Amino acid sequence: MGDDIKNDSEDGNSPFEDIKRQFNDIFGSSAGKFSFMPMLVEGKSTAQGQGDTKEEDENAKFVEKIRAFNLKPREIKDYLDRFVIKQREAKKVLAVAICDHYNHVKQSLNDKNAKGKEYNKQNVLLLGPTGVGKTYLIKNIAKLIGVPFVKVDATKFSETGYVGSDVDDMIRDLVKSANGNANMAQYGIVFIDEIDKIATSVGLEGRDISGRGVQINLLKLMEESDVSLFSQTDVMAQIKAAMSMGNDRKHTTVNTKHILFIASGAFDKLTDIVKTRIGARSIGFNSQNSRKTDDSYEFLKQASTADFIKFGFEPEFIGRLPVRVACESLNASDLRDILTSSEGSILKQYVDDFAGYNIGLSVSDDAIWEIAQLASEEKTGARGLLTVLERLFRDFKFELPSTNVSKLEITKACVGNPESELEKILKQCT
Ligand SMILES: Nc1ncnc2c1ncn2[C@@H]1O[C@H](COP(=O)(O)OP(=O)(O)OP(=O)(O)O)[C@@H](O)[C@H]1O
Ligand SMILES: [Mg+2]
Repeated sequence: MGDDIKNDSEDGNSPFEDIKRQFNDIFGSSAGKFSFMPMLVEGKSTAQGQGDTKEEDENAKFVEKIRAFNLKPREIKDYLDRFVIKQREAKKVLAVAICDHYNHVKQSLNDKNAKGKEYNKQNVLLLGPTGVGKTYLIKNIAKLIGVPFVKVDATKFSETGYVGSDVDDMIRDLVKSANGNANMAQYGIVFIDEIDKIATSVGLEGRDISGRGVQINLLKLMEESDVSLFSQTDVMAQIKAAMSMGNDRKHTTVNTKHILFIASGAFDKLTDIVKTRIGARSIGFNSQNSRKTDDSYEFLKQASTADFIKFGFEPEFIGRLPVRVACESLNASDLRDILTSSEGSILKQYVDDFAGYNIGLSVSDDAIWEIAQLASEEKTGARGLLTVLERLFRDFKFELPSTNVSKLEITKACVGNPESELEKILKQCT
């Protein structure tokens, strides 16, 4: 970057030569880091011109891609089926919401008159326990459509942004994930995890209102607002903003109208609210026979707007998340299916890891079933698989690469006692 600046001003006639000198005086050699310097030149510097052409090309290609969007809900669901086990309802609902959203975006790009048309954005709220595929579903959708995607935790936001981040930061993060291309970011997907944590909770002294301000700020974003690329709490960003003041506004702000927001959370306490409203018996559940996690799905899927308001969401906020769907918990046989049939199975990763040391890994069916059962006891959904597999393979991964072993066969007995299996293998090697 330092070199860029030197080259730009080598002719000595540069109109920002004076400003550069002053910057160097103030910031010393670190001034070389300011890549925005060429933006000061009226009529754009050569470097800026080239950058713009590249960005324009990229934009044109991207807009063309959105214009060509012609996926059908069933195709999206079929694609998700390759990676995500179960969650049939969530896949269907998401597939429809995504198609509606991008078809609308496509219409407003293709037809200037469509811009004035009324449209309610299909922002989505995903409910369900940990590790059942909420984030995984959205990641796969963003990958399929090829739009910028960012995942943020709602817990990191504060109302003012002075402590923690302000909600606009998520849009700036989306721009980063689009390699700095603000135009592409305007058609991206923002995934907000842990949204249930910004509900206002009822305490002894009435409602705690800390989450309310964040909700209010969020709902403006979800609808439509212009977000500055430069954070107000970031001094460097403010200098940059001042420097680019003469530039086109569209280069310094992102409009959120076409950004799809998908929020997600576990909503544990919401289950009780719904239960109280409809009564446990009225949906035919016998609490002694059914596992708690399973009936929480049955209740969550019936949550109404009034339940969400009782839970601690502002009516205007929950109103901006009109598409709501609950994800099911995963039992041992679902976890087995994840290991054996998901294209993103974690087991494949282990096979690749061992292949890196020229060791062929195979896992028998009954070992897979054993792993799935142990993982289900963890009660963390598919995340339990990570825990069990890590524990199982830890010592094998450490010891075997330094031996001449070329094959590792995992049996049910080995899952139960990996240490003694490893000992046996190591003895055979010596
Ligand atoms: N239904 C599923 N099918 C296949 N793989 C899954 C499924 N659910 C989870 N996984 C695997 O587990 C990992 C963690 O899941 P994910 O991040 O989607 O959980 P989550 O529902 O978002 O949980 P949390 O509420 O804790 O954020 C995924 O990256 C994926 O590998
Ligand atoms: Mg998640």
